Amino acid sequence: MTKLVELNGIEKRFPGVHALKNVRFDLHPGEVHALMGENGAGKSTLMKILSGIYQRDEGEMRVKGESVNPQGPRDALDLGIGIIHQELSLMNDLTAAENVFIGREPRLSFGRLDDAALNRQAEEIFASMNLSIDPKAVVGELTIARQQLIEIAKALSYRPQVLIMDEPTAALNDAEIAELFVIIQQLKSEGVGIVYISHKMDELKRIADRVTVLRDGTYVATVPAKETPVSEIIAMMVGREIKEAPLQVPDTSSAETVLKVSRLSRGQEIQDVSFSLRKGEILGFAGLMGAGRTEVARAIFGADPIDAGEVEVHGKPVRINSPHDAVRAGIGYLSEDRKRFGLATGMNVRANIALASMERFTSALGVLREPDMKAVAEQYIDRLDIRTPSDAQEVRLLSGGNQQKVVVGKWLLRDCDILIFDEPTRGIDVGAKSEIYALLEALAADGKAIIVISSELPEIMRLSHRIAVMCEGRLTGVLPGGADVTQTQIMALATARDAAMAPVGELT
Ligand SMILES: Nc1ncnc2c1ncn2[C@@H]1O[C@H](COP(=O)(O)OP(=O)(O)OP(=O)(O)O)[C@@H](O)[C@H]1O
Ligand SMILES: [Mg+2]
Repeated sequence: MTKLVELNGIEKRFPGVHALKNVRFDLHPGEVHALMGENGAGKSTLMKILSGIYQRDEGEMRVKGESVNPQGPRDALDLGIGIIHQELSLMNDLTAAENVFIGREPRLSFGRLDDAALNRQAEEIFASMNLSIDPKAVVGELTIARQQLIEIAKALSYRPQVLIMDEPTAALNDAEIAELFVIIQQLKSEGVGIVYISHKMDELKRIADRVTVLRDGTYVATVPAKETPVSEIIAMMVGREIKEAPLQVPDTSSAETVLKVSRLSRGQEIQDVSFSLRKGEILGFAGLMGAGRTEVARAIFGADPIDAGEVEVHGKPVRINSPHDAVRAGIGYLSEDRKRFGLATGMNVRANIALASMERFTSALGVLREPDMKAVAEQYIDRLDIRTPSDAQEVRLLSGGNQQKVVVGKWLLRDCDILIFDEPTRGIDVGAKSEIYALLEALAADGKAIIVISSELPEIMRLSHRIAVMCEGRLTGVLPGGADVTQTQIMALATARDAAMAPVGELT
């Protein structure tokens, strides 16, 4: 059988970065070939070359046996190669249907747009994916999960023979991931070859046939997915063993209550939520996607107005009407959507890390102390292992996971008493994850009060001193963290339809 894709001896350099060194990769029809590696290993770059977005410096590229040289995404699409990008590339002001068919909208005579046909065709694609998205919905108003699904729909609408998925599940919940995997099985049975990039190791076993590992821009190996232990794949990725210290739950029972949230309500999204957070404590928020955890964080941070409820910081009621008020009250929030709220992607790494802490780098006369900024930025680049040629690199040129590390660094540096981290390790590789866990624990030990929202249960269980669980806008219980808590206990609370029936733990 001819291979769909063959890449050999691929080289790619960017200023200051040798991103790909003699890399090879191939793809058979009807297989899922996972591409793995740490943040900055070169995965997205290799796939951007295959999909015509970047041109290789050297090497050979064959599609169905023919030597090819796509000069842009259009050329690659003509060769049957489609890509779902890691960073969402949709137009926020356009509708779902307009985004799917951008540049090839159905037209009536005289060139007028045929809106009815546009919406109908989009509806058909969504239906084939078992998706209920209104084709007329404005994309910027949808959740990132929905946007991700529209991105997938758009790629499928080209009926590609080679489909590259660059972290397609980063923002999806379990049910949506299951739906996506059904679609992948369907595509496989039609002979489509799929390149699958993900940092979620469990997904490998579920859908991948083969795995290729890259490390620092070099090819490490290609192995069968089912037969190779995950630990072996991780070892190939990071070139060392990752040792995780088990969670130590400190006794914070007599520590000061730093944050007290009472009867917080906002429409259906947040219903009567009360909890408190102590100095030195890490409070995890678990729940299914859409349970209202991000909404609670955004309400506390003043990003959305509330209908009712009170917030006390250090025992004093505070009025928070904007993120500015929140930061002044000592509350920091790392948003789950780094692109929209977390980063100034056109600015450099140094400025982004310092962004939320400018007063620290400004002299009494209002002069910015660049050398101090640089020193601190370099410290975080080192601690978080941010792969960048220097602190002066523009953030948009970093790999996805390294951009996320920059946002984490920014909030670690900001001297807030209360820090809310919403999906802090999204898109971050296994090695860097444990580094971030260690940093969060160090911050807590240092007296910060920390909230972590995560859709990954192992992460919640690994980090939380106590675990608050939400379901459909309500807080259904608070569990003690540590070795005794089980996934089953958390899931029981996360799926409790009627909060009154759920065992409500200690709420304060
Ligand atoms: N346009 C660019 N200009 C300069 N450097 C770049 C550019 N694109 C990528 N790089 C660099 O190339 C290297 C590989 O990046 P790439 O995005 O391929 O990593 P990745 O394996 O996809 O990582 P992640 O898991 O974080 O998404 C990184 O060091 C990155 O900073
Ligand atoms: Mg990438």
